[in-house]
Amino acid sequence: MSNVFRKKSISKMLEESSNSQLKRSLGAFDLTLLGIGMTIGTGIFVLTGIVAATHAGPAISLSFVLAGIACALTAFCYAEFASTVPISGSVYTYSYATIGELVAFIIGWDLMLEYLLAVSAVASGWSAYFQSLIGGFGIHLPAAITSTPGGGSKGIVDLPAVLIVLIITALLSKGIKESARVNNIMVIVKLAVIILFIIAGAKYVKPANWHPFMPFGFHGIVTGAATVFFAFIGFDAVATAAEEVRKPKRDLPIGIISALTVCTILYIAVSQILTGMVPYTKLNLSNPVSFALQYVGQDWLAGIISVGAIIGITTVLLVSLFGQVRISYSMSKDGLLPKTFSKVHPKFQTPFKNTWMTGIVAALIGGFVNIGTLAELINMGTLLAFTLVSLSILILRKRHSELKRGFRVPFVPVFPIVSAGLCIYLILNLSKVTWIACGIWIVIGLFVYFSYSKNHSKLNGSVYEEQNFVQK
Ligand code: ALA
Repeated sequence: MSNVFRKKSISKMLEESSNSQLKRSLGAFDLTLLGIGMTIGTGIFVLTGIVAATHAGPAISLSFVLAGIACALTAFCYAEFASTVPISGSVYTYSYATIGELVAFIIGWDLMLEYLLAVSAVASGWSAYFQSLIGGFGIHLPAAITSTPGGGSKGIVDLPAVLIVLIITALLSKGIKESARVNNIMVIVKLAVIILFIIAGAKYVKPANWHPFMPFGFHGIVTGAATVFFAFIGFDAVATAAEEVRKPKRDLPIGIISALTVCTILYIAVSQILTGMVPYTKLNLSNPVSFALQYVGQDWLAGIISVGAIIGITTVLLVSLFGQVRISYSMSKDGLLPKTFSKVHPKFQTPFKNTWMTGIVAALIGGFVNIGTLAELINMGTLLAFTLVSLSILILRKRHSELKRGFRVPFVPVFPIVSAGLCIYLILNLSKVTWIACGIWIVIGLFVYFSYSKNHSKLNGSVYEEQNFVQK
């Protein structure tokens, strides 16, 4: 049983990472843009409307404040980890080093809910804006192929969502380089359309639309926060770039915290203006930002916003799929998942099979499952990971006080405990269905761990003995 608590040695990992082949070219500014690029997407362009209409009303901005506070506290913990142990693999690696193998496995397993399902959910957001854009040119695809089945819709499959995931998969499998420059341009386009919306939309705000401000009470704000939490997912992925940063101990904390700050400010501004332009009851649709502009007769601007949203959402899609493949790749290299996941294609030098298997699963989910259901499950996965990062900081402080840190979480143990507490509070506000689905996923994970991973782990001496024996 003690095997399940075995840990990877931090000093060994640091040594390996200092020999990393990856080029250290990123600075604090690149990291901030990378973080914004990964974070702003479907959450603000799609979920804002749905949450305002069904959970929080105009007080959705307070939902963003609450979710933002939870994320800020966790961001501090990520920043300390990333500046102490600047190794790729993010929270999966951190927990492997501090708590032990079983928890690390469960986190990695749980992160699949975050990254894999995020690809599917973000793809349906992409599809909604794509349809709104081509709709502006009078092209309307049949309902059967433009939305997921169920919930009274006439849809059979969301074909644009399936296709965009497959296109991104093809790009990634051939080895598209994560180019900070291309990402920077796309992020700037995304920021530009959001700022354009804020400036243009402000003129059409009618304060009367903000009354009643809290139609669903405080409870609505909290449920809203648990859902719009989705919009913040991604800032944590900055930590995965650890081995490509010039001065990781200094720049990682700056990148993580500034990306989160920019996103929070924009989210609050966009949601406040959106609910000021359109009565919240009318916002239960999947392209609320461009809809709001159409609502006030600004069709041209709505078109521009749709193009910006499509570009912006595409970057999130690309990075989430990349992140998912990177996690299963690391787990496979550690022996916790089958070797196929870490096989590198001889020509493209990418985990080709892994990318395609992941992409096809994500495409199918995106084509057939409703975004609301997916978003909650993703939040659950991420909130669990955030809780563990916060708690792991306490262990890191206790067991590895000797390691040099570029950033220290203030007020330990209060901040990490409050951070974990807030995440758990948000988890408690997710629906029962989400709890059940997540529980089933974790039980499957435990089964995989005990029947496969535990015996195949690289930390497991018996595997080496067995191989030696076979070789003899
Ligand atoms: N935060 C990402 C988004 O909102 C997942 O699309």
